[in-house]
Amino acid sequence: MVGIAIIGYGYWGPNLVRNFSSVSNSKVEWVIDLRAERLDVIKKQYPNIKTSASFDDALNDPAVTAVVVATPVQYHYALAKKALEKGKHVLIEKPMTQSSAEAEELVALSKEKGLALMVDHTFLYTGAVRKIKDLISSGEIGDIQYFDSTRINLGLFQPDINVLWDLAPHDISILFFLINDRPVSVSATGISHTPNGLENVAYLTVNYDTGHIAHFSCSWSSPVKIRKILIGGTKKMIVFDDVEPSEKVKVYDTGYSVKTDEDKRKLLIDYRAGDIHVPKLEQREALAGMASDFISAIEKGTTPVSDWQVGLEVVRVLEAAQESIKNKGKEVQIKFQ
Ligand SMILES: NC(=O)c1ccc[n+]([C@@H]2O[C@H](COP(=O)([O-])OP(=O)(O)OC[C@H]3O[C@@H](n4cnc5c(N)ncnc54)[C@H](O)[C@@H]3O)[C@@H](O)[C@H]2O)c1
Repeated sequence: MVGIAIIGYGYWGPNLVRNFSSVSNSKVEWVIDLRAERLDVIKKQYPNIKTSASFDDALNDPAVTAVVVATPVQYHYALAKKALEKGKHVLIEKPMTQSSAEAEELVALSKEKGLALMVDHTFLYTGAVRKIKDLISSGEIGDIQYFDSTRINLGLFQPDINVLWDLAPHDISILFFLINDRPVSVSATGISHTPNGLENVAYLTVNYDTGHIAHFSCSWSSPVKIRKILIGGTKKMIVFDDVEPSEKVKVYDTGYSVKTDEDKRKLLIDYRAGDIHVPKLEQREALAGMASDFISAIEKGTTPVSDWQVGLEVVRVLEAAQESIKNKGKEVQIKFQ
């Protein structure tokens, strides 16, 4: 049995407590939060879980073998570091840290101590994303040409990160899960309408040297909620609409072929618009899959789908995007080891 301490019981923490309480071989021992009113809520909901405002109470309990960090990102690094130093396995909410230097330090520490380190990129455990992965891997979609994501709504303005750091981790992790190549550069623009200067509308383009491109639109200032990813392949195209209650993934037998006329001066485009297929999706709650993956990494030493590598790569993209925004959309090279 893996004894878990969850740090942060705000918006997302309750989902983690519920799932870590339901998956096998996992027991939530502690919930830590600085706000007494949040501890009162958990005491009512789960009287058997111990609560405290002090992280040390959980760290000093030998029943705790793993820590889940679900606080705002500015505290991720320090809390995760403290937990690893105490010999605890660590799961960190997305985005992993505020910089790649911080993420690298945690990775080195987890390796030195032989502890599991994982980042919760929840979408990688959804039936929709897993189905899309199967469709791409089977060759049905053909070669990927573009990945175009829109994640906008009248969102909660975060006090410590801009809209890209808040929303784009979902789409960047999905992109990296679906497509094995890594980009060579990014360019991004954004604008802030608040005195803290944190962008609430931002656009990120991710460039590859292998024939595809990715683009992300993120906003907390939209009158409508859109959660849509379009993936274009040489054979078929996919639409993933996460706002749709049931038919989230649609596969369009749509495409075009390009020819030139005899003297190669004129483009001849042949369009094809065929059937639309709605695949059946696995219904298990994504967070339950994520929680089981973390428990398995601890107990069996398996590599999680959403491992530290994904977490670190996502932070690298966000960091490069931030530099690009600062320089009015300048292309910023990016390196993955
Ligand atoms: N995976 C997902 O789909 C998903 C969804 C939402 C949020 N998140 C992530 O979860 C994390 C938390 O987001 P949230 O929306 O729940 O934030 P929140 O502000 O609603 O809650 C954070 C909680 O952490 C507590 N806290 C802050 N510092 C603390 C400390 N040092 N020790 C103990 N408690 C502390 C706060 O009191 C608060 O209750 C963020 O990293 C966010 O990006 C992930």
